[in-house]
Amino acid sequence: MMSEKRLLLLNGPNLNMLGTREPEHYGSHTLAMVEDDCTALATSLGFRIDCLQSNHEGELVTAIQNAIKTHDVIIFNAGAYTHTSIALRDALSLFDGIAIEVHLSNVYARESFRHKSMIAPVVNGVVAGFGAQSYLSAIHAASGLLQQQTKS
Ligand code: DQA
Repeated sequence: MMSEKRLLLLNGPNLNMLGTREPEHYGSHTLAMVEDDCTALATSLGFRIDCLQSNHEGELVTAIQNAIKTHDVIIFNAGAYTHTSIALRDALSLFDGIAIEVHLSNVYARESFRHKSMIAPVVNGVVAGFGAQSYLSAIHAASGLLQQQTKS
């Protein structure tokens, strides 16, 4: 098993409402359930995980800035800020670990304003459309990327 790496699971605005929020798009899992499932998987893959949700853009920027010094991986569902936030993009550009953008819904099958991501160009990859499973796939991807880096 690889040495313990630190993973930040970061969720943006309105994701605290999961479970009751538009279940046709976001499913029935609450944020606590998502965080529990991610914690179980991440721990089994050798990560130490921290979970944080904020409705405030500046708090998300600060969380990313703090993670630069402390974390190896950021799994990030920026919610609606995905489509608008140059500040989050700039913060993520400073993070030299692995960053993965996540969406529960398939944003490309929805309104056109959701087709544009400000942050996609500065992350390693994007997982969208698999409900709560998107987060778990992103954690698996991050683990695989870290293992590749260790080998090379
Ligand atoms: C979302 C998609 C965004 O367009 C939306 O604003 C969200 C959730 C998703 O997980 O599918 O808040 O990021």
